[in-house]
Amino acid sequence: GPTEALPDVSFSHEGVFGSYDRAAAQRGFQVFEQVCSACHSAKYLTFRNLADLGYNEDEIKAIAAKKQVEDGPDENGDMFQRPAAASDAWPSPYANDNQARASNGGALPPDLSLLAKARLGGEHYIYALLTGYHEAPAGVEVRPGLYYNKYFPGHMIGMPPPLANDMVPYGDNTPATVQQMSHDVSVFLTWLAEPKMEERKQMGIKSILFLLALTILFYVVKRRIWARIH
Ligand code: HEM
Repeated sequence: GPTEALPDVSFSHEGVFGSYDRAAAQRGFQVFEQVCSACHSAKYLTFRNLADLGYNEDEIKAIAAKKQVEDGPDENGDMFQRPAAASDAWPSPYANDNQARASNGGALPPDLSLLAKARLGGEHYIYALLTGYHEAPAGVEVRPGLYYNKYFPGHMIGMPPPLANDMVPYGDNTPATVQQMSHDVSVFLTWLAEPKMEERKQMGIKSILFLLALTILFYVVKRRIWARIH
């Protein structure tokens, strides 16, 4: 497990009534689009699902059209590239895992679709990892191609520090500090891993209210039925 306590950061989507901060998730998508997706795939991200974050149809088409996806075979049996449509999934930056490893000094950048659920600590871990790059402690040697990260198990990670202040020009004038971008992309990746979280919570609340009402009803009925017996 993680060797360090994770930094204290809270998210609006936590708790029984919590819901995703859509503005943060949109900024987080910008971070993913402009930074993370250079190395990471997100194969369960379908462009049209971005509507749930508040993007409209035209915006989604424009986001998709910036990406090329493989299609085919055509009439000659050949595969070809075309701009992505809203119904496509986010394409991987690499043809396969071998190419991904070759481009990253042997380390494989994992698919980000479900990572916020797959790693112990979830979005708190992702936030910690992105803000956790430091000089190695004295006496600790870091091999070339590896980077010291306080929160990565074993501390030596093959991912170079991906974020620097003001890297992503936020559309809403939020200052793009490393902390802010780390927070926002953590919100986005949590939404990506669990887009139906809000429905799930609402269903839970409704179930509890229903059971509460049923309990009260049974109690009242029981009192009525037994009232005549003394
Ligand atoms: C690993 C997130 C950008 C290359 C990871 C991991 C996460 C992550 C959560 C998994 C750590 C673990 O296994 O516990 C992100 C996010 C990014 C981003 C949110 C954008 C803000 C990048 C970029 C590159 C990259 C731009 C390439 C230059 C890698 C590699 C690994 C990795 C090679 C595997 C590291 C290893 O196993 O040693 N990333 N990443 N990432 N990432 Fe990124």
